[in-house]
Amino acid sequence: MKILVATEKPFAKAAVDGIRAIVEQAGHELVLCEKYTDVSEFHKAVEDVEALIVRSDKVTADVVNAAKNLKIVVRAGAGFDNLDLAACSAKGIVCMNTPGQNSNAVAELALSMMLYMARFAGSGTELSGKKMGIHAYGYIGRLVAALGKGFGMEVYAFDPFVKAEAIQADGVKVVNTIEELYSTCNYISLHIPANAETKKSIGYNLLSKMPKGGCLVNTARKEVINEEELLKVMTEREDLKYATDVAADNQAELNEKIGVRVYATPKKMGAETVEANMNAGLAAASQICKFFATGDTTFKVN
Ligand code: 3PG
Repeated sequence: MKILVATEKPFAKAAVDGIRAIVEQAGHELVLCEKYTDVSEFHKAVEDVEALIVRSDKVTADVVNAAKNLKIVVRAGAGFDNLDLAACSAKGIVCMNTPGQNSNAVAELALSMMLYMARFAGSGTELSGKKMGIHAYGYIGRLVAALGKGFGMEVYAFDPFVKAEAIQADGVKVVNTIEELYSTCNYISLHIPANAETKKSIGYNLLSKMPKGGCLVNTARKEVINEEELLKVMTEREDLKYATDVAADNQAELNEKIGVRVYATPKKMGAETVEANMNAGLAAASQICKFFATGDTTFKVN
């Protein structure tokens, strides 16, 4: 089988070497389409392959239609909002992600953004003793919580999909409403996926409830923020801060109007570590080889 790695933002070399070793060991062939600058290169490369590994690369209906033999797509990472699941399902293509594999890298970035936002202007403040709110207690959320506790923060979480006892077992306080999380915590770390329910769900109503000096840290997706309302609330509340790993569509306007209270990384870097590339890339290759060898569909998302 031909297994294509198509990555506009390439994996670290060590990860590609590891992927190649897994693929060739299983008797398959690795094809690379890295750092493509035009999507047509991706369309061409996918034409005759049976499997595809991507990062945030958009697997659109056009990609799916260009692929004559495709059986499986693995998003090497957590969020799979870049995959057109309906288009894949219509052609019987299995879609997977690699949950948890790049979580630590994202968690460390979230913490570093909090530290930065606490210190960037003159005499700063410390994280110790402050309240941290984890919005969605999945793989990343629980790692951020552990780091926050390490910094002496009081950690709260809201996640209706995780049992309260499991959260409490980590020494994290459970809140039962999203409003309570935002009105309680000095720092909120966002870890919700982007889907029909969550898109534009974080806006004026929640952010205006944050305590004085409150800071929202977004290492999730820009789509979950109502960006017009973010601008409005930050204009009204001259104490609020926003740090994001995914520049808003109105980032230039935010920067201009809000200034240093808003920070966006130069480019998305949450999962951009050698370790995360290795973990997610190798997991993706292994999942594909196992799928071809045994039909295993663990981590299927469609
Ligand atoms: C994820 O969902 O896993 C992250 O957003 C990582 O995205 P990336 O692989 O494009 O860095």
